[in-house]
Amino acid sequence: MYPLVQTSESTMKCLVIVLVCAVFAEGIRIPLVKHKSIRQKMLENGVHLPYHDPALKYFPKKHAGSTNIHINNYADNIYYGPITIGTPPQSLQVVFDTGSANLWVYSIYCNTQACKTHKKFNPQKSSTYRANGQTFEVSYGSGIIDGIFAYDKVHVGSIVINNQEIGLSTNDSGNLFVVAQFDGILGLSYPTISAGGQTPVMDNMISKKLLQANIFAFYLTRGEKQGSELSFGEVDKTKYKHPIHWTPVTDETYWQIGIQGFQVNGHKRNWCSQGCQAIVDTGTSYLTAPQSVMRSLIQSIGASQNQYGQFEVDCSQVKKLPTLTFTISGVKFPLPPSAYIEKIQGVCLVAISQTYLLSQNGQPLWILGDVFLKEYYSVYDRTKNRVGFATAA
Ligand SMILES: *[C@@H]1O[C@H](CO)[C@@H](O)[C@H](O)[C@H]1NC(C)=O
Repeated sequence: MYPLVQTSESTMKCLVIVLVCAVFAEGIRIPLVKHKSIRQKMLENGVHLPYHDPALKYFPKKHAGSTNIHINNYADNIYYGPITIGTPPQSLQVVFDTGSANLWVYSIYCNTQACKTHKKFNPQKSSTYRANGQTFEVSYGSGIIDGIFAYDKVHVGSIVINNQEIGLSTNDSGNLFVVAQFDGILGLSYPTISAGGQTPVMDNMISKKLLQANIFAFYLTRGEKQGSELSFGEVDKTKYKHPIHWTPVTDETYWQIGIQGFQVNGHKRNWCSQGCQAIVDTGTSYLTAPQSVMRSLIQSIGASQNQYGQFEVDCSQVKKLPTLTFTISGVKFPLPPSAYIEKIQGVCLVAISQTYLLSQNGQPLWILGDVFLKEYYSVYDRTKNRVGFATAA
């Protein structure tokens, strides 16, 4: 799987030690001359094939510039999938998170409860690992990850990034992800919010020209079905219904966009008449509403707060609940009750929470989490700095 490095190392050695070089060359040539090649046979019949470098077979993905990664759906709440780090590759499960920019994984350098329950990256077992020494701290709503930066080779699907800066956890607080299935987080937002100035994976893919288009796209399944997918370099046309509606990124930090209108069952509400902002975040499960509209929103849905502070509705009434509709760049995106109600052990809960933060420009801030992104296939375009939504297949 790593002929690129091995070949160049071999070539280097060849330049220094002529004898070894001959051995290497011989080793490569023997299988090729054993039989007459198709090219040779055709040449004998007067047909000239265009030259085709036999070594190309070792680089089947080199010109593909795109990849589809199967991601797991845990309870419709967390979507995570595999990457590998190091040589030979160590496989780890990460959340692909459009709401942060850092890549970090649990490592053998940490010793917390969360570390004990996860797979850990071991730099001592990677020949491509390079230490860096810089420390970092990434803060997520519910806790903090401390660690050190280093460099290593990272595989994301068939895309290979050499010398990707990676965060190795050394400590964490708040028992953040003790019970989570994933071993780290791969952030996909803009480098402006990357802790410690770490160059995000997507930025390396862009600067090293690894993608045929500088985009990625998410298909998140509903009903705990498997088959969720993250694509880099192109969209997967089988996962959405045409067309894709685009809206510009308003602040190149998160994947932040504008919302111009809001309706409940087709009736206009003035909640976003002065404009709202929304962060499109695959790493947030719920839809998150601004604190200023939460009370009216819950009233419109007719939910009541239970003893745990959750908003609950009568499961037999779910079909009669209102449709919530966002207007984004002139296009209406309805969310039916099936999207924003989740049934947990026979109880129907409203999958909407509130946020107290305002956006940078002072407008009310929504977070379009998985509740929204399960309904709409989402495309993130770093060349045109825009987000696209299309009805999910
Ligand atoms: C790890 O973090 C916890 C919580 O913030 C802190 O109490 C503890 O001292 C830290 N441990 C180390 C080794 O830094």
